[in-house]
Amino acid sequence: MQYHSLLITGGAGFIGSHVIRHLLQAHPEVRIVNFDALTYAGNLENLRDVEGDARYTFVKGDIRDRALVERTLREHGVDAVVHLAAESHVDRSIANPMEFLETNIMGTASMLHAAREVWGDRKDVRFYHVSTDEVYGSLGEDGLFTEETAYDPRSPYSASKASSDHLVRAWHHTYGLPVVISNCSNNYGSHQFPEKLIPLMIRNVRDERPLPVYGEGLNVRDWLWVVDHAAAIDRILTAGENGRTYNIGGLNEWRNIDLVHLLIRLVDERLGRLAGHSERLITYVKDRAGHDLRYAIDATRLATELGWTPSITFEEGLGATVDWYLANSEWLDSVTSGSYRSYYEQQYGAR
Ligand code: NAD
Ligand code: TYD
Repeated sequence: MQYHSLLITGGAGFIGSHVIRHLLQAHPEVRIVNFDALTYAGNLENLRDVEGDARYTFVKGDIRDRALVERTLREHGVDAVVHLAAESHVDRSIANPMEFLETNIMGTASMLHAAREVWGDRKDVRFYHVSTDEVYGSLGEDGLFTEETAYDPRSPYSASKASSDHLVRAWHHTYGLPVVISNCSNNYGSHQFPEKLIPLMIRNVRDERPLPVYGEGLNVRDWLWVVDHAAAIDRILTAGENGRTYNIGGLNEWRNIDLVHLLIRLVDERLGRLAGHSERLITYVKDRAGHDLRYAIDATRLATELGWTPSITFEEGLGATVDWYLANSEWLDSVTSGSYRSYYEQQYGAR
């Protein structure tokens, strides 16, 4: 690895914690600062296994606090930023859009401005922006998003991420800041806050609570194991070309309703219940406003240029994921013990 001191924003969140764990394991010489505001989605519990590592430091801070970001970049001699901090849940962006614009757009602008203030015109540095395939909008029955697909974001979340991508490119073209961007499909794995589909369904099957399926459950997502995403980020950070965008996907499309059936089977099996026991919990609820029909990624560029492909099958990854949540019931209960209520509960009340 050509970078020595990395600043990871949002490292206490779902993907960020996997990225930190992966980079510390893969690069013995690297030092990492985790810069995170610890919102409802950030949890230092996610990094218990690395907190004793002398190469790892945590700084509690908001990416919009430019003075603190600049001070942290200087104090730690940071030569690469991996920017993941964001508000990340589409339903919340529908309920509370301004928070998303402030964190995702102004927060990214603040990070870019701070990096330029501290790095000046240095070329031996890198600003890596982690983004989503949702910036490309919604697909019909066929087709895949490529890096050339025109942006067409349709939710406050995806519009805020699209804006942040544009800012990163603007800093590259205007100021020559060395940047890379990746746009990734839906991640699954351990430590994901249980408001997103997979951990929410696992938790609700465990607790025999209703399983809210939006609309008819026919929307399609392309699921990628978060550990494979972390490995892809490592490849792009170390070998990606400045100014270039890389799509990351799992080649693994599932209709929501089919995935819910699969999760019911996996959880019921592990809890020693009769086959089909939890099917009765499926509850069709009012569709999400502006619900994108289908996302699917063509990750050819990443495979051909940087040699990355997913390392495990969905069956293996999902099985391991279900095992993790059931073995870490305390984690599931503690992260949802505060003011958290799922979008479904907010809309329809707990049943
Ligand atoms: P997450 O919600 O689990 O974690 C976000 C982290 O950012 C939390 O630790 C939170 O405390 C921190 N954060 C939020 N606002 C902050 C602020 N103002 N200052 C500092 N820290 C702040 O999110 P995630 O699912 O891990 O996603 C990480 C990144 O990856 C996001 O940029 C998201 O857009 C992108 N992404 C996610 C997915 C996915 O499937 N989860 C897919 C593609 C891209
Ligand atoms: P989600 O995990 O929120 O990711 P995203 O919206 O960013 O793709 O949702 C994945 C899919 O699952 C999406 O089509 C919405 C649907 N969904 C439900 O049907 N019920 C739920 O309770 C949730 C959270 C999502």
